[in-house]
Amino acid sequence: MAMIDLNGVRLRNRIVTSASLLGYGASKRKLILYGLSPIAQWVPLERFGAVTTRTLSVEPREGHFSLREDWSLREFPQMLRLYGKALRRVDAGWMNAFGWCNIGIERYFDEYYPRTANLNRIISVGGFSAEELCTLVETVNRRAEPGDIAAIEFNVSCHNVNFSFETILEDVLRQAVPLSRHPIILKISPDEDYVEQARLAQRHGIAALTAINAIKALRLDPETGEPFMKNRFGSISGRAIKPIGLRVIAELRDAGITLPIIATAGIRDFDDCREYFWAGADAVSLGSAVWLTRLPLYALGPIEGLRIRRLIGRIARYEAPAAIAAAWAEHGPAAASGQASVSSAGRGEAAPAASGEPAMVGAGAGGSAAP
Ligand SMILES: Cc1cc2nc3c(=O)[nH]c(=O)nc-3n(C[C@H](O)[C@H](O)[C@H](O)COP(=O)(O)O)c2cc1C
Repeated sequence: MAMIDLNGVRLRNRIVTSASLLGYGASKRKLILYGLSPIAQWVPLERFGAVTTRTLSVEPREGHFSLREDWSLREFPQMLRLYGKALRRVDAGWMNAFGWCNIGIERYFDEYYPRTANLNRIISVGGFSAEELCTLVETVNRRAEPGDIAAIEFNVSCHNVNFSFETILEDVLRQAVPLSRHPIILKISPDEDYVEQARLAQRHGIAALTAINAIKALRLDPETGEPFMKNRFGSISGRAIKPIGLRVIAELRDAGITLPIIATAGIRDFDDCREYFWAGADAVSLGSAVWLTRLPLYALGPIEGLRIRRLIGRIARYEAPAAIAAAWAEHGPAAASGQASVSSAGRGEAAPAASGEPAMVGAGAGGSAAP
């Protein structure tokens, strides 16, 4: 299969899925797709350029929802109440405050990784210190061979965990990136100084950027003043944030950022994708659109599945206008020279050319597992 090479991040095509929206890429049980989007029944996930996991942390986290999977029918109202405090439809988008509710990285590798070998996977990880990010990278090094995943994505821009990631970003990049045997994507947020963060990313050997994370937001019950979300603030995603995503990508390009960018913000259809390509994106990602819809519309799941399958096909066949194709060529396998340093031990050497082998990042680039 011909692969797209974004500076070492190898994708099956230019349309991927965003962190969390397809859970861990598989459901636990065959009949009940708990934790996996219903859309997965109608769209073979292996057709996506890659599927990004939920953000995984070193230890399991309840976040603002729950790790329980054994809700009885009687307990369903309780579960839905909890769920309603972590995810809610608002205006033209969705507010969520799951707060990295996840089973932890080791359990992901035990329970889901072997069952998703048919997918091209991006593993999203998040932590609260450089040490935690190093542990996460070392775990992925130990449990996934180079080439078996597309990339690791650093989520150090999430609001729902109440932590100021700016304080650790540089340490994270300096310490964790050189350890990795896999290309690393940095996910950025419009709530932070994203141009500065992208510059840091370029200096520290990040292979590509994902833009943007969901945006910090607030909604209150007009009667009582009670926040919709358990965490008071939440993050907004979906159609409401598409113009902001476009702005961020255009501004990154205007600022001279040359790393490949995977766009995620309110993308639903072919024209959304083309708009993002014009703004400077190298690939697009479906977030809310692969899962979240008004409840009655789940009945139209098969039609929605067909629509998404068609969209994947259209993007796979898309012939970009010359200006876009030229920009993509710049962000391809050779993009590392001078800055992105898909490198050996973070020393800034150029990435391997498009040899068919995935580019490897960092100290383990000799092919051996990091300690
Ligand atoms: C319910 C939900 C859960 C999310 N969880 C994560 C997460 O665990 N890690 C992460 O990096 N982004 C997470 N996101 C953000 C999405 O990956 C994506 O960046 C954002 O929703 C913007 O894309 P969209 O407008 O297409 O949804 C989540 C978004 C939603 C709606």
